[in-house]
Amino acid sequence: MNAEPQASAPLAEAAPKVGFAAVPIWLIILTALLGYRGCMYVDQFGGGFDPKVYTPYASFKQLDDLQTKDANAEMIQRGKRRYNETCGQCHQAGGLGTPWQFPPLAGSEWVTAPDPARLIRISLHAVQGPITVNGQQWDLIMSLNAITLGISDDDLAAILTYIRQDWGNKAPAVTPAQIAAVKKETGDRATPWTAEELKAVPLK
Ligand code: HEC
Repeated sequence: MNAEPQASAPLAEAAPKVGFAAVPIWLIILTALLGYRGCMYVDQFGGGFDPKVYTPYASFKQLDDLQTKDANAEMIQRGKRRYNETCGQCHQAGGLGTPWQFPPLAGSEWVTAPDPARLIRISLHAVQGPITVNGQQWDLIMSLNAITLGISDDDLAAILTYIRQDWGNKAPAVTPAQIAAVKKETGDRATPWTAEELKAVPLK
């Protein structure tokens, strides 16, 4: 009779063995790919660890206040900055102009007309008097304009949107496409508009 238990052979095979096994090749490749991706990420979004990128802020609120809230707010912010650098030297930061020298943009019907066709023309090629603004007549000439000031369509759209929506003005935003369209219609015009010519431009 055989006294050996029949199950001993399979049991011995199932027991763990001590030894070495090669690391699977896929694990090596995966680790390498993850490492590579990590480097690419730091390269792309790390800002070179430049101090200009990693400025210390005093509080989360301060940092949050510096973030633009939406596309329109971003446009207004840029428009305000560009306005102050360009048009604002004459029309003033508050949009009120200067008596006898520069007419106001705040409350001006030329600025707040729902269709910006005339406003874009004034900005691009300037205007010469006589022109009535808020019931007051001006007889001057606007000696600088968006073209001579080298303002891009993008920035001019931001400036015009800003002046239409600050100082109590309420009018729809202006798009760079609207400016490009007016440029196409007016061709290589370089002379200032008169109020009569502007009034002949149909408004939608
Ligand atoms: C060098 C000074 C100067 C600059 C810069 C200037 N303007 Fe004017 N602007 C004037 C003067 C002066 C008049 C009035 C001209 C007239 O009597 O016809 C005027 C008139 C206007 C008018 C029509 C009248 C009114 O008050 O609504 C608008 C709109 C206007 N400017 C917008 C702009 C915008 C937008 C910019 C910037 C792209 C700009 N101006 C830059 C001097 C300037």
